[in-house]
Amino acid sequence: MDGNGRWAERRGHARFFGHVRGAARIRGVVEEAVSQGISALTLFAFSTENWKRPEAERTVLWGLLERYLRKEVPGLLRQNVRLQIIGDQSRLPESSRRAIASAQHVLSQCSGMVLTLALSYGARAEIIEAARRFAQECEQGRASATDLDEATFSGLLQTAELGDLSDVDLVIRTSGEQRISNFLLWQVAYAEFVFRPEPWPEFGAEQFSDVLKTFAGRERRFGGVTLPRPELGVNG
Ligand code: FPP
Repeated sequence: MDGNGRWAERRGHARFFGHVRGAARIRGVVEEAVSQGISALTLFAFSTENWKRPEAERTVLWGLLERYLRKEVPGLLRQNVRLQIIGDQSRLPESSRRAIASAQHVLSQCSGMVLTLALSYGARAEIIEAARRFAQECEQGRASATDLDEATFSGLLQTAELGDLSDVDLVIRTSGEQRISNFLLWQVAYAEFVFRPEPWPEFGAEQFSDVLKTFAGRERRFGGVTLPRPELGVNG
């Protein structure tokens, strides 16, 4: 959800105002995702690197997260959306952790789209943590190096709960930047990327729907080749 700060500064506002507008944009995008039958949507809200931001900005962000959860949980429940968090929650303020736990509890029986919020998340840290856990299993004699394959490693990442859905199909980055910024590095191996010029506060359901059309037009080969369509007729 990039570009909040620049959006605000261009209008002569303080950066935090961009985050306020950005947070307000989430509802429309989530509703559009649900209505298009998307199974999993992940929003990158706060990276491990974002801890370098001034305390005042961080405080606004955690306040917005808490407000979002308070306001939106009833709507998420109606839409059958489950909530998942990735990232190091132990660094979050106690009030944010409580708000997350309460929202997850209310939505725990939902079986529709999984909305994942990446909070204090960094993909390198996630990968290191998974490697560490596997090394510990080996040290304790419960696994050996040859047991490690891609599926096992995926199961050690924070997205493991998503199962097959943890392999990302589409990454959308707003605000014109064309970087990955330590986001789901393992999971995006075969993802399609769409970079949009709008800052996040100007990205809504309509833009999201446009991006989905672009994605639908992409040819995904997963490292293979596209075979010519077989002739129809002989064996039906
Ligand atoms: C990036 O824009 C955005 C963030 C670091 C925060 C995104 C958070 C929210 C939209 C609201 C809080 C979260 C939830 C889930 C309700 P930037 O500040 O880096 O923009 P810039 O690149 O223009 O400076």
